[in-house]
Amino acid sequence: MSSFKDLRIVDNFYQTSSYFPMPTILVSTIDDEGNTSIGSYSLCFPYYVAGKDYYAMLLECRNSSNTAQHLLQRPKCALNFIPNNKKFFKEAVRLGFPGDTPKEKMSKLLFHLEEGLAQDGHRPMVVSESFQVFECTWVSALEDAFECKAGELEGYRPPYKEFNGITSKFGAHFILRIDKIIMKEKYHQAIIDGVKSKSFPKIPVDYGYRDNTHFWYSDSTKYHSEQVPAPKEIDIKTVRYAADRSDPDIHFTDEACKRLAKVPRIFLKAALDGCVKWAKKNNVTTIDLAQLDIINDKRNKEKK
Ligand SMILES: Cc1cc2nc3c(=O)[nH]c(=O)nc-3n(C[C@H](O)[C@H](O)[C@H](O)COP(=O)(O)O)c2cc1C
Repeated sequence: MSSFKDLRIVDNFYQTSSYFPMPTILVSTIDDEGNTSIGSYSLCFPYYVAGKDYYAMLLECRNSSNTAQHLLQRPKCALNFIPNNKKFFKEAVRLGFPGDTPKEKMSKLLFHLEEGLAQDGHRPMVVSESFQVFECTWVSALEDAFECKAGELEGYRPPYKEFNGITSKFGAHFILRIDKIIMKEKYHQAIIDGVKSKSFPKIPVDYGYRDNTHFWYSDSTKYHSEQVPAPKEIDIKTVRYAADRSDPDIHFTDEACKRLAKVPRIFLKAALDGCVKWAKKNNVTTIDLAQLDIINDKRNKEKK
């Protein structure tokens, strides 16, 4: 007999049929008068994380919202991540009340606004209280989503897009290219130096709108870490064999091969190819431990 019970899946299953942890993000966009407008969003997640020409987030929203209507006309937005604070979350809930015009909402704004750091024309302001902000642009070229036009506030008629633009009568998805990630000094420094439990910002985790009365959230007050299992080392001869065949012009020292033996086997070829690519780009012909350190250190440029 199963230890689980089956639960009927209904609309908005992430908050009606489950416990699903989500971020709390204030999305700033530009309204029809050129001013910054803010809406609260939690269905906003990383979409392209590697291997593409750009990085992207996915935002899922009601297509009649101010945010969706603004994005359809002006693709620039900012994703403001607010820290955990009762007053801030209360304000996020106010900014999440459907139907208010941007003017009504923004006239009583608790937060402060300032310019972001992306400098490519008119962009919405960012929320000063945020610990980090992603300044983004909607990629309307994907799935020809530029065909979707603003102005239908009572529900869009088909045809719908699959994953970008107007995706159902009341729904919209926006793939947002990340143009800049900007961060408060303290948290920026912690990423460069290597995070410790104390250096995480306090972040509210949203569990959504439940029982038709309240938004539920938790405050992440303590951060824990868990070490990954000790790697199963590959035979050094296997690494040497693969390294010698990766590129005739690039040599890997024995020490480098020894260290690469710790890379999980399925990633070995990709790791060697990455080293070769880096070596060619930097006019290096021998990969030793020092070169591996540089290659592994994704934040190397910032540290310099
Ligand atoms: C914490 C929080 C998270 C929310 N997340 C979403 C979401 O991910 N998608 C959505 O369509 N609405 C979400 N809402 C509801 C929107 O905020 C609401 O539709 C609001 O009217 C949007 O503001 P806007 O019209 O200015 O864009 C959320 C509300 C709150 C308070």
